[in-house]
Amino acid sequence: MLQKQPFPSIDAIPRETHDEASRQRYVSFLRKFIMSDLSSKMKDLYFEDISKTIADDEVNKQSQTVKIRRAMEKTLFYKVWSSLRFNAQEMTWFSVQNQVERSLSDLVKISKEASRVKTDTASLNLNPSLEIPKYVSKLDIHQMPGCFHTEYVSDDVAVGAVYAHGTKVFGGAMKKSSNPGKGGVADTISNYLKMKYPNFKPKRILDIGCTIGSNLLPYRNVFPDAELYGVDVAAPVLRYAHARAVSMNIPVHFSQQNAEKMNFNDGFFDLIVSSFFFHEIPTKSSRLIVKEISRLLSFKGMTVHMELPSVNEVDPYYNFYIDWDAYHNNEPHYASFRKQDPIELLVNAGFKEKNAYILHLPDRGGVTDHDFRKVVDGNGSSPKHGNYASYYFFGAQK
Ligand SMILES: C[S@@+](CC[C@H](N)C(=O)[O-])C[C@H]1O[C@@H](n2cnc3c(N)ncnc32)[C@H](O)[C@@H]1O
Repeated sequence: MLQKQPFPSIDAIPRETHDEASRQRYVSFLRKFIMSDLSSKMKDLYFEDISKTIADDEVNKQSQTVKIRRAMEKTLFYKVWSSLRFNAQEMTWFSVQNQVERSLSDLVKISKEASRVKTDTASLNLNPSLEIPKYVSKLDIHQMPGCFHTEYVSDDVAVGAVYAHGTKVFGGAMKKSSNPGKGGVADTISNYLKMKYPNFKPKRILDIGCTIGSNLLPYRNVFPDAELYGVDVAAPVLRYAHARAVSMNIPVHFSQQNAEKMNFNDGFFDLIVSSFFFHEIPTKSSRLIVKEISRLLSFKGMTVHMELPSVNEVDPYYNFYIDWDAYHNNEPHYASFRKQDPIELLVNAGFKEKNAYILHLPDRGGVTDHDFRKVVDGNGSSPKHGNYASYYFFGAQK
């Protein structure tokens, strides 16, 4: 136990009213309708009609993607779809803000109590003088009010709570749970690593851009003896993450640092991971961060990152479709991240090309254990990327 008494769950503090709960359900299903039903109709419209008006550019996928965007932007279907999607994104965060505001003083109180929990294996180290990079501070990434770093009251955790509850609304109706208790990025990749490399027993695991720790804490189930570390530039999400980990009795060292330059010694970690992180970072910073990862990894250490597939790995229509966020969702680095070759990014940071890889894995919650094992063993394939069915990873061993 990290503390003598069980610690209250910070996630459970903001309570939604009856009307808020129905609004959240509505937004979840609206998103599902847009991202599944309407998106599939829009794809039909493209392939049955619009694609005939565009000359094929087999060689240059990027110029083909631009042509598709220009043609689709003229259609009424795209305009309606895009504006619905934009509004559903805003509504996601708005649908949880009131309950977070009502309970803010209790949230802050719990997180302050949790911040006193300090052991050899669990701590929260904030650095108020850390400069927040402009790519975080200058815009509300994916339209989340206040982004990850804004503090409205002292010791604030509000944006952490909005992220925790908003992401449930965001993916709630779309995530498949046909394999109960399983699924999500961390559960999927950590189980893959354990199955694929049975002798790999990381002593220390680092998650960069950990936000509230959602894709760090599950490593505890698979590598129970490993020390867990989470780094983020934003204090409110780290306070929330620490309180959450304490209440779940999972020891983690959280620290406020810029992943471009961290204060750990060379070779300190055996496994360094991230999820939904690199596409929010300018390419120049991505290069610095991957170099830093290479410095921090032990000999034979592993690094693996869940991301969006790069431009050259998917067809031009899908490129147009997933780059929507770069133009309409305050994620300006999304498209430039995808233009990079992830293997080249790793090799330029010092990893050997033969040790670098791209990986497609089904979400473990959406397939049977048997089918997941088949994919790990190379005898099965992953469902098509998108809507949480499968994940794309790039990684390397040192
Ligand atoms: C989309 S979120 C990551 C989500 C999280 N990994 C998860 O799976 O729930 C991106 C996070 O990266 C953090 N971040 C952005 N730039 C960073 C940097 N240079 N160093 C450390 N953290 C950074 C942001 O504050 C934010 O919390």
